[in-house]
Amino acid sequence: DASDIEKGTYPNYMLKEIDEQPAVIRKIVMAYEDDKGQVSIDEDIRGAIAASDRLYIVAAGTSYHAGLVGKQLLENLSGVPTEVHIASEFSYNMPLLSKNPLFIFISQSGETADSRAVLVHVKKLGFRTLTITNVAGSTLSREADHTLLLHAGPEIAVASTKAYTAQVAVLSILAADIANGKGMELDFDLTKELGIVANAMAALVDQKEVLENIAREYLADTRNAFYIGRAVDYFVCLESALKLKEISYIQAEGFAGGELKHGTIALIEKGTPVFALATQAHVNGSIRSNVKEVVARGANACIISLEGLNEEGDSLVLPEVHDALTPLVSVVPMQLIAYYAALQRGCDVDKPRNLAKSVTVE
Ligand code: G6P
Repeated sequence: DASDIEKGTYPNYMLKEIDEQPAVIRKIVMAYEDDKGQVSIDEDIRGAIAASDRLYIVAAGTSYHAGLVGKQLLENLSGVPTEVHIASEFSYNMPLLSKNPLFIFISQSGETADSRAVLVHVKKLGFRTLTITNVAGSTLSREADHTLLLHAGPEIAVASTKAYTAQVAVLSILAADIANGKGMELDFDLTKELGIVANAMAALVDQKEVLENIAREYLADTRNAFYIGRAVDYFVCLESALKLKEISYIQAEGFAGGELKHGTIALIEKGTPVFALATQAHVNGSIRSNVKEVVARGANACIISLEGLNEEGDSLVLPEVHDALTPLVSVVPMQLIAYYAALQRGCDVDKPRNLAKSVTVE
């Protein structure tokens, strides 16, 4: 049938979509490249952001996790205060709004009802809105003042992979563009760095056997798993744990390395798998001492580090990329580890139980 044709030689959509990520990043660069060969965004959007004093990102699920990385990019690269909110909580835990807020809705489908409810509400209050979505003409895109497209191509598998990396890439372009607009000199060329990221992703999707073995070694007979990281790695750990939960049904939690000792470390016993991400130089020492703490309690630790920060015994070394962009590469092996763990358990990776691709009810 038609779906077999679209899948090509792939056994399922999820693997195909994971593999497409280097091409998606290259496509985004092309789509956002201006006549000077630099990635940039539409002037109207630049203007709307320049006129606002604070950005409020609203999203759900994987898109929320992309928003957390986006906040770091926006604040670190362009100095714009940014908050990130779970769409379904927004009206109950309503943040105090600044004078001139701009709302950014991140949504692969552009159809998530919880996000739409916030959009309708803030529009009534008269605030400016921007939707970052994969689907041109989607509800959130039509109803917002502005849209930035992800150019990831249709994402069919329920667990989001290429949309997440596309969201982070577009958010990096947005952050760099705002910085440029404010006359802040970035100390790197984002267009070039995204090209390096695409190559690093391509190298990682070629390591399937290694990742399949990691899944077997760490996740075969476990009922739970932990992901720890600090700084931006923490946000990638939240997404990595969600991927594993969604498709393999292994109970998984992402934690900030330093927070583990305040409770969760009680769950570590002999053989508990703990994945640690180490891509950030300024926290490399401290995340590695967190690994020692869990290993001392019997954990089976799998360290994934960035080239240059790697140490002997690390399970996987990620090709070096700019340190603001590491989530784009560190998430790829995590997606594949979750994928293989699910396959090894005989799960339907494309259509996990109880989940919908887009949740159109509040
Ligand atoms: C559902 C999907 C998730 C997705 C979330 C938000 O729960 O199963 O994969 O992250 O919705 O979807 P959106 O389309 O708004 O990004």
